[in-house]
Amino acid sequence: MQTLVTDQPEEAARHLNRGETVAFPTETVYGLGADALDPDAVAGIFRAKGRPSDNPLIVHVSSPDQISEVAQEIGDDARRLIERYFPGPLTLVLNKRDTLPDIVSAGLPTVGVRCPAHPQAAEFLRHCNHPVAAPSANVSGRPSPTDWQTVEHDLDGRIACLLRGEPSTIGLESTIVDCTTEPPLLLRSGAISLEALRELVPDIEVATSCRKGETPKSPGQKYRHYSPEAEIILVETSLKNLPTQPPAAWIGLSTPPAGATKSLQCRDLNEYARVLFGFFRTCDAEGIREIYCELPREEGIGRAIRERLVKAAG
Ligand code: TXA
Ligand code: MG
Repeated sequence: MQTLVTDQPEEAARHLNRGETVAFPTETVYGLGADALDPDAVAGIFRAKGRPSDNPLIVHVSSPDQISEVAQEIGDDARRLIERYFPGPLTLVLNKRDTLPDIVSAGLPTVGVRCPAHPQAAEFLRHCNHPVAAPSANVSGRPSPTDWQTVEHDLDGRIACLLRGEPSTIGLESTIVDCTTEPPLLLRSGAISLEALRELVPDIEVATSCRKGETPKSPGQKYRHYSPEAEIILVETSLKNLPTQPPAAWIGLSTPPAGATKSLQCRDLNEYARVLFGFFRTCDAEGIREIYCELPREEGIGRAIRERLVKAAG
C-alpha cells in the first residue's frame, strides 16, 4: 500500500471516510484512526499495528455532542470531567452503545472516549463522518510516536494516509478514567494529574495494576509497552558516574552523570514527558544498549512519567 503524506485535514478525512486507515497528530501522541462504526476499517488498524485483538481502542470525537453516538448513561462524575477537560488529554471509559462494533471495544461493554484539543486533529475529526477509533500510531509494543517522522518509520506502506503536523506538545498518552465503576478508577496517568481530577471527583482511586488470574481493568495493561530495544534501568537519585560501560545513555532532571555516551537533562517535568519517547527512539537508532532513567517525583505529570518508565523497564 502507498502511504500518502498530507498537511490537509480535509484530505486525510476523505481517506478515512472511504474506510481507510489514517494517522493524525494529537497533543498527546500521534494516533492511527479508522471509522469507529465500520468494523472492516477498524480491522485495518489492528493489521497495520500488529495489535492483539483483545486490546480495545479509544474512540475520538470532534466535540462532546458526539459522545452520545458511541456511549450512553453518562453519570455526574463523567459530566463534570467532560465539562472541564473536553477537548483535552483525557479519555473517559463509559458504557458503550450497542451500535458501536465489538471490534472497537474488544468485546467489552464499555468504550474509551476522547476529544483531542489539537487544532489539526479537531479539524480532521470534524471532516470525518463518524467518531474515529484510534490507538497510538506505533507498531504494537514500541514507544508511542510523538512526531510524524516516527509514524512514517513504523507504518509507511501499511496505512493509507498520514496527516503531517507538528510534534506532540505533551508527549505521553492521555489520562484514562473509568467512570463505569464506583468509585471511578484512574487506569492510566497522563498530563491531567490525579490531583487535578480529584478536585472535580474527590473519590477517584488509582487502579491496582493487573494481578495474575484477574481480568485487567485496562486490557492494554497486560502488554509490554513503551519499550525501546535498549534495556531501561531506573534510578531514584542523581548519579555521579554511570555504573556501566558505554554505549549507555541517561535521561532525567539532575546533572547528567560522567561516562554517558548520550544524555538529556530536562528543565522540568513537562519537558521530560515531551521528549521521553523520542529519546528512546533515538537511543535505539544510535545503538545504545542501556538507558538510565531518573524517576521523577510522583506528583503532577511525574506520576505519568514514572508509570511509563516502570512499564518500559518491564
Ligand atoms: O493519548 C491517547 O490516548 C492516544 C491518542 C492517539 O489519543 N491513544 C492511545 O491509544 O494511547 P492506545 O490504544 O495506545 O491506548 C489506549 C489504552 C489501552 O491500554 C487500552 O487497553 C485502554 O486504553 N482502553 C481502551 N478502551 C478501554 C476500555 N473500554 N476499558 C478499559 N481500557 C480501555
Ligand atoms: Mg499505544
